[in-house]
Amino acid sequence: MKNLNCLKGDIDPKNLDRKPFSFSHSLADHPALSIESLIKMIPEMPKEKVMFSKGLDSLKINFDNALDTHTKQLDLMEVIETIRTSNAYIAVRNSELHESFKVLYKDLIEDIAELLKINGTGTAPIGPTLWLFIASPNAVTPFHFDRTSNFIMQIRGSKELAIFPPRSEEVFSRAITESYMDWEPELPLWTEEVDKHAHKFHFKTGDAAHIPFTSGHYVKNGSEDISITLSIFFHSDETLRWSEAMKINNRLRKLGISSQAVDRSLAVDSFKSTVFPAVDSVFNVARKLRGN
Ligand SMILES: [Fe+2]
Repeated sequence: MKNLNCLKGDIDPKNLDRKPFSFSHSLADHPALSIESLIKMIPEMPKEKVMFSKGLDSLKINFDNALDTHTKQLDLMEVIETIRTSNAYIAVRNSELHESFKVLYKDLIEDIAELLKINGTGTAPIGPTLWLFIASPNAVTPFHFDRTSNFIMQIRGSKELAIFPPRSEEVFSRAITESYMDWEPELPLWTEEVDKHAHKFHFKTGDAAHIPFTSGHYVKNGSEDISITLSIFFHSDETLRWSEAMKINNRLRKLGISSQAVDRSLAVDSFKSTVFPAVDSVFNVARKLRGN
């Protein structure tokens, strides 16, 4: 494998979206990612791209709801000023829109493209989106999963990052995964029982990890400093195919029809992905006829 721009260390592309793994990155000293630069950058971002929250201290909180409610109620500048002491959390979506992130965004895309090509799951990341997270010491990111594949890079501070195996019925059910993928709001809840399945990474400045597509995860920040984390979310050809196949499976489940889980048959997943736009249109028409 050729030398990558930002992602470093021992990366086996065959593990992409199959299991979590850690490696390293070279962005910790990037000037755009210092707290001084970020304090300038965040207020310059479009308002709808910045979400924030205070008092996240339990793994059982519904993360989506907390960010949405708190962003409407709190003042961003107050959250920034008190971030060292308030269990606060700031998330900036589409950080690549800011001039200071453009080059590192391009470099990361090239790195991911290289890994996908070696893995045979694409030639470039689809819909790559940069998220920036700034969090207080001891702040918790509750248990959840995301609808894309992800590389996460620690820029400052430390955290415990727990990542669960993707698409494991022992962690949460296939029905929950597929309904959440189909934009229904049901997130799995963390339990003590499920925790034994987690891969736990002690994550410090310069460390990176891969969170596979639909892998559950949670984060507990270290106590000694604020945490700055950069994530790039994307689809490969494979995860986009799985994503659409999962939506089909969810619609079939609602009709009482059982279906095959993704990643068992390329032909079946490809077929579902191909017919998804037509099936989605039929469901939309049915929804309109029902008046919801
Ligand atoms: Fe996440």
